[in-house]
Amino acid sequence: MDGLFITFEGCDGCGKTTQLELLAQYLKDKGFDVITTREPGAKGLGVKLREILLNYDGEVSSNCESFLFLADRAQHIDTIVKPAISEGKIVLCDRHIDSTVAYQGYGRGLDLQQINYLNNLATGGLKPDLTLLFDVDTQTSMQRVGKNQDRMESAGIAFQEKVRHGYLELAKAEPERIKVLDSRKTIQQLHQEVLAIFAGLN
Ligand code: TMP
Repeated sequence: MDGLFITFEGCDGCGKTTQLELLAQYLKDKGFDVITTREPGAKGLGVKLREILLNYDGEVSSNCESFLFLADRAQHIDTIVKPAISEGKIVLCDRHIDSTVAYQGYGRGLDLQQINYLNNLATGGLKPDLTLLFDVDTQTSMQRVGKNQDRMESAGIAFQEKVRHGYLELAKAEPERIKVLDSRKTIQQLHQEVLAIFAGLN
């Protein structure tokens, strides 16, 4: 039996990682076989790519940045996500294909069709069963990130605004897969909404 693939998306500081951990704990307590993972940098080679992507302080072209995120994705999908799904596990993944559309497509201004094509190559066509998009205004999200910012977080408010807009466009285009949650709500309120959406999957 195939498992489930659920991705958590949103701008930096949107609270998605907290919600992923809460859902994972809830599902484990219920006896489900769950793994939590992330892009970029789940393990091994991916961790090295993450280090470059978030901390390299020299010039990085937008195309190069995309290919590095996509390389991490290909490795992650082939070595972690697909095997877990085929073993019937529930895979909860912090960021995936929509991050590249939002950040490199809408944020950096790369061609959206090409990003979709490359995403498809990296995943071999696998798509999440469900994507939870945690939406919050850019000012709030940047306040939450604070002053200690990595290479992507320090790309500026205008960039973050474009990323947020990109995510909302994606949600409009794929309302069945991508569910938008209002990240200004409390952690517990959001967790209850996540559980309700999860229950609706079955
Ligand atoms: P995070 O793991 O703390 O969310 O940070 C990952 C950063 O990388 C975040 O700023 C979003 C960015 N990112 C992209 O720009 N494109 C991608 O495809 C992915 C997966 C992440």
